[in-house]
Amino acid sequence: MTGTPIDHREASASDLEAPTPGPLSFVDHAGLLEEVVQSLGQIGISRLHRFPTRTDRRMLPFEAVNLVHALAGRGNYVMDRTAIPEFYRGLAGLGTPRAAALLRLFVNALPTELEAWRELLGADLSDRAAAAGLLVPRGTRWASRVRIVPSHGRLFVTDVIEASRSDSIWLGKDSIILIESIRRRLAGRRLRNGLEVGSGSGIVSIHLAHFCERVLGIDINPRALDCARLNARANNLERVEFRRSDLYRDVPETFDVIVSNPPHVFIAPAARATQIYADGGEDYGTSLQMAILDGLHERLNPEGVALLLLVSPVVRGLDVLPERVRSRLAGRLLDFEFEPLFNNLSVENLEYHRAQGVQYNWVYLVTVRKANAFACRVLPAGAGVQAKSWAVRKLMTLAR
Ligand SMILES: C[S@@+](CC[C@H](N)C(=O)[O-])C[C@H]1O[C@@H](n2cnc3c(N)ncnc32)[C@H](O)[C@@H]1O
Repeated sequence: MTGTPIDHREASASDLEAPTPGPLSFVDHAGLLEEVVQSLGQIGISRLHRFPTRTDRRMLPFEAVNLVHALAGRGNYVMDRTAIPEFYRGLAGLGTPRAAALLRLFVNALPTELEAWRELLGADLSDRAAAAGLLVPRGTRWASRVRIVPSHGRLFVTDVIEASRSDSIWLGKDSIILIESIRRRLAGRRLRNGLEVGSGSGIVSIHLAHFCERVLGIDINPRALDCARLNARANNLERVEFRRSDLYRDVPETFDVIVSNPPHVFIAPAARATQIYADGGEDYGTSLQMAILDGLHERLNPEGVALLLLVSPVVRGLDVLPERVRSRLAGRLLDFEFEPLFNNLSVENLEYHRAQGVQYNWVYLVTVRKANAFACRVLPAGAGVQAKSWAVRKLMTLAR
């Protein structure tokens, strides 16, 4: 990168009106995408952070909480949206120019002059990417149809989420938090096999392979499997298999470790059909999470452990998910431990949630082990977690 200034403007209205060319095939573009990943792999990315990807003015009242999350993230800025993207892009500019370009062009997938693409990827590769439809024109600028996200020295291809498409692949802050939790909990362990339920882009399965001889990722969305296989190849990992399965239906094996950040959003009925990656189903968006918990006893090896990033709505003071575990899974010989991480709100569904009595959500790291008797504990929230949760609830009251 020779130093063409990065264009920090947001996409203009006319840029965004450009027609979308339809879903990108991770099979047809596999060779080109692998080439792009290899080329970007030359960038020193170990110190690169993930930045908020979506601009949302409604987040302004929550920016203090965003900042706390960013500062507490120890290397991963884990929020997805912000009202002040310029602030975070300014931070990105403090790294090398190539790293800043990678963040802007691929992590945030913002439209940029072709010249900036040529400087990042080289003229030949960027021109071929444009000709193949991997880069698409947005007014006078070009935008990537995929995001490429750095994580612990690896790069992962995923979708730019299009709300109108049902088969979009989600790689969000929940994925990043789960990866950090797995790395912390399994540090120094060497396990025989692992399972990820709802593997999406494959990023969690691929990181899990650091601790397991073999990993199986399952997903109901065939596009997600194509994307995950591409990411495994681009990261030279043959020990990870991806298989189509509706939850555990086509998974007869048992595992030393099971992980998941499943769809967990309580979505208004009109929007449900369009969000496979997000729709948590019935009962305030907890039914899919409950089905995963329900199947654990049969799929875990005797000394096995499950690490799950789950979301529990608080409805008129009731913390739904631990309550459902106690009332519906009490016969299982399993030990459930809910570690509170923080509170969140679903900004898109705020009106619907208010109407349904949902006050906010708890985000939990849930650890499940086989045991001689059923047990379900919710650990007390630490002072930092309580402070952040208090701030979310206060700000939410102000936003009403
Ligand atoms: C929140 S995303 C997980 C993202 C993934 N960890 C990543 O970072 O790319 C949830 C995933 O669960 C998948 N899913 C939804 N319903 C499913 C089902 N019944 N069986 C298996 N997978 C399912 C979705 O297709 C989606 O890929």
